[in-house]
Amino acid sequence: MLVSAVCLPGIFAAISAEPILVGEVASLTGASASFGQSSHEGTELAVAEINAAGGVLGRPILLITEDDQSQAGQPATIVRKLISQDKVVAVLGEVASSKSLEAAPICQQNKIPMITPASTNPKVTEVGDHIFRICFIDPFQGTVCSKFAREMGWKKVAVLTDVKQDYSVGLTECFMRDFTANGGEIVKEQKFSSGDKDFKPQLTSIKAARPDAVFVPGYYAEVPLIAKQARLLGIKIPFLGGDGWVGDSLLKVAGSALDGSFFSAHFSSEDQSPKVRNFVETFRAKYGGMPDDMAALGYDSAMILAAAIRAACTTDPAALRDAIAATKDHDGVTGRISLDERRNASKPAVILTIRDGGFHFVKKVEP
Ligand code: PHE
Repeated sequence: MLVSAVCLPGIFAAISAEPILVGEVASLTGASASFGQSSHEGTELAVAEINAAGGVLGRPILLITEDDQSQAGQPATIVRKLISQDKVVAVLGEVASSKSLEAAPICQQNKIPMITPASTNPKVTEVGDHIFRICFIDPFQGTVCSKFAREMGWKKVAVLTDVKQDYSVGLTECFMRDFTANGGEIVKEQKFSSGDKDFKPQLTSIKAARPDAVFVPGYYAEVPLIAKQARLLGIKIPFLGGDGWVGDSLLKVAGSALDGSFFSAHFSSEDQSPKVRNFVETFRAKYGGMPDDMAALGYDSAMILAAAIRAACTTDPAALRDAIAATKDHDGVTGRISLDERRNASKPAVILTIRDGGFHFVKKVEP
């Protein structure tokens, strides 16, 4: 009784130092490579730190990472393989909501806990009681963006939605609901699909509607192309977006086209708290670049899983599920993380702006 309550690592180490296998599904290549690479680096850094400190229950964590190549259909296949062949005790990932929505039913059916670091669409955790996320959800993010738009004095906003992404469709709905309920007007709704390259027809119609700003809850691959084409068409107003803008390549492709635009996100590398400064330094020492949101969320997701294994004193999936569900006040680099009864986290968002080729902190918005 006493032994199981304190769960002495030394005892477990003596019994076995077999690694604890943890699966990771990430878009390491393809259209969302920036998401997958960043979240993978953050996850890998956390695992390295955990193992350097003696592992969990006296055992090292072994991360088995599979690349879904940013392709639909892949996350389900990969998660099936991780569970049935590799026998992982839990799955970390994916970043994009549509991808997590493919992986989640497989984890749920097999009763293997899945923690998505970054998928914000509400449907993801609704798949079942084994599906968790450590980030906020889009009803909150949509309200954060709508409130910010109103604070900026924008009364007429156009929206441009990626109909291929559950994330984009959901965030548009949440934004529009809050914006119109508070007296704002949506003067034009336009759509595109992930992978599109020409946005001039939609932008021409948006220009004619004379909005004060354009809300584009897209991903980093299309948003800079949209902004550049908008500037060529003489559209000078700011763009507003969500966490999908995050990624170095957005800045590289956009040039100055997104200067003075804003988006909501999970993390700012300019945060001065000692926890974040330390994370930024260790991340830079290992990878060279600055950590972004997905890196920070990936790091927190692995740390939360390790803490849950420790708390459960076992890797048995049922006990592990309960321990993840009980996560409370985890002091993460993306903030204090407690999971609610729907397996979602309630956390502050940050508004960032783009200037001089970088993302800069504007404000923090509490839930
Ligand atoms: N929230 C996005 C989604 O659910 C993914 C994302 C998270 C992208 C964080 C960038 C940063 O699809």
